[in-house]
Amino acid sequence: MNALELLLNRHSCPRLAEPAPAGEQLDTIFKAGLRAPDHATLTPWEFIVFTGEQRDRLGEILAAAAEARGEAPEAVDKARKAPLRAPMVIAVAAKVKPHDKVPALEQQLSAGCALMAMQMAAQAQGFNGIWRSGWFIFDRSIHDGLGLDEQDQLVGFLYLGTPLVEVRKLPERDPAQFVRYFE
Ligand SMILES: Cc1cc2nc3c(=O)[nH]c(=O)nc-3n(C[C@H](O)[C@H](O)[C@H](O)COP(=O)(O)O)c2cc1C
Repeated sequence: MNALELLLNRHSCPRLAEPAPAGEQLDTIFKAGLRAPDHATLTPWEFIVFTGEQRDRLGEILAAAAEARGEAPEAVDKARKAPLRAPMVIAVAAKVKPHDKVPALEQQLSAGCALMAMQMAAQAQGFNGIWRSGWFIFDRSIHDGLGLDEQDQLVGFLYLGTPLVEVRKLPERDPAQFVRYFE
């Protein structure tokens, strides 16, 4: 698959099974993330990986946060089980560094680009996944549970694994609806 084919056919897959990427293939995924655009070379990223039982520990962190927010028992249980939807979950955080020319937003955008690059590198190697967020990425107790600092910002959880379903027909989008040549 060449680069343009990958860009034009990128898609998510929420139904994922073992195996998750490992070894050199996983390393390639991280390296793709680390090629994200990065103003002032701040490398403002951290990828926190959960596989196997670590996913249960992540689930406990999410469930505790849900409970603390006063969510209903079903929602707490759903949060606890959320990381089990894929064999690997990667929490992607912007490790925001103080910089006079690079505000936090730019560093968060950079982390988002890293997440997407990792998803595409997974797809290019026969894996896939989905970028998920929800209120989890705005909850400070979840940041604490993951060992993140006060200035850090989760941008999402990349669920990764082997796709269980065929690619659905990708929606055709007409650039004319989204592009305007400034006059
Ligand atoms: C910042 C961000 C957060 C997202 N959070 C969720 C989420 O929590 N749950 C979800 O089902 N999709 C979420 N999505 C959307 C999916 O990642 C995916 O893009 C969507 O299902 C469309 O599928 P596609 O990527 O194949 O076009 C999020 C996307 C972005 C960019």
